[in-house]
Amino acid sequence: MTIRRPRKVVLPAAGLGTRFLPATKAAPKEMLPIVDRPVIQYVVEEAIASGLADFVIVTGRGKRAIEDHFDASAELEAALRAAGKEKLLEEVQRVSELGRFAYVRQKRPRGLGDAVLCAADWVGEEPFAVMLADELILHEPPALAQLLHVHEITGGASVIGLARVPKEEIGRYGVAAVKQENGLLRITGLVEKPAPGEAPSDLAVIGRYVLAPRVFALLAKTPPGRAGEVQLTDALDQLAREEPVYGVLVEGERFDVGTPEGFLAANLALGLRDPRYGKQLAAFARRLLGML
Ligand code: G1P
Repeated sequence: MTIRRPRKVVLPAAGLGTRFLPATKAAPKEMLPIVDRPVIQYVVEEAIASGLADFVIVTGRGKRAIEDHFDASAELEAALRAAGKEKLLEEVQRVSELGRFAYVRQKRPRGLGDAVLCAADWVGEEPFAVMLADELILHEPPALAQLLHVHEITGGASVIGLARVPKEEIGRYGVAAVKQENGLLRITGLVEKPAPGEAPSDLAVIGRYVLAPRVFALLAKTPPGRAGEVQLTDALDQLAREEPVYGVLVEGERFDVGTPEGFLAANLALGLRDPRYGKQLAAFARRLLGML
């Protein structure tokens, strides 16, 4: 049987961004910039570098800026052209040509699982990817491509990206119980944000998934879990009991840009590496640290 290669990516972006208030009171957290690109553009570019270019973004109230970002902008382009700013013009045009975008709205913030379920009709009966814009992962090959590789060699099984995290942080994540199977990590169970001492391992779910469409039927039956929300982790725990689900220890430098600490660290790390700003920023940081 030939396996279907996933083509579509679901990007949940309906969350309220409470960890970033008041910055996210009127602006989507997915649009906060890392150097000069909004965080959501990094995950879109990771998907494209992994060979997937069909996106459905699950949005909600106050998220219109995301649609505008990936759309053409006639006035802006005309103004840049008139001003002779060719490089910037190319860059804004490139962003509007990154992929194909569709949008669905999640009417109420009922959790990540419910947001993914909102994309069911658009995905249909195909394997698909889910990517959370909260996690920035830098690597070549990209994180999603690492998952797609395991999806392929397992004949089309669902695959979840994992990373080892310190004990003190594990309660912030979905956590996987795993066993070794023919050189792969088979997931035997998943718990969303376990209480201290109850995590089945130090393997955290890091916001990259390649999933079988069966997960939609499971999500539709999943009752609210942690925080009274429908959790994707709970539906995947059920999926892992029904059929093989694999974990991949994702290689790459990871920033949890959904928290202010991770967001600031990502801006510092990418800013220091940026050929346009790195030198000046390093000199400034050195001066500043010398003063502390
Ligand atoms: C979500 C998922 C969690 C996962 C995390 C990764 O939680 O529910 O399983 O580990 O993303 O960032 P959130 O960070 O949205 O609370």
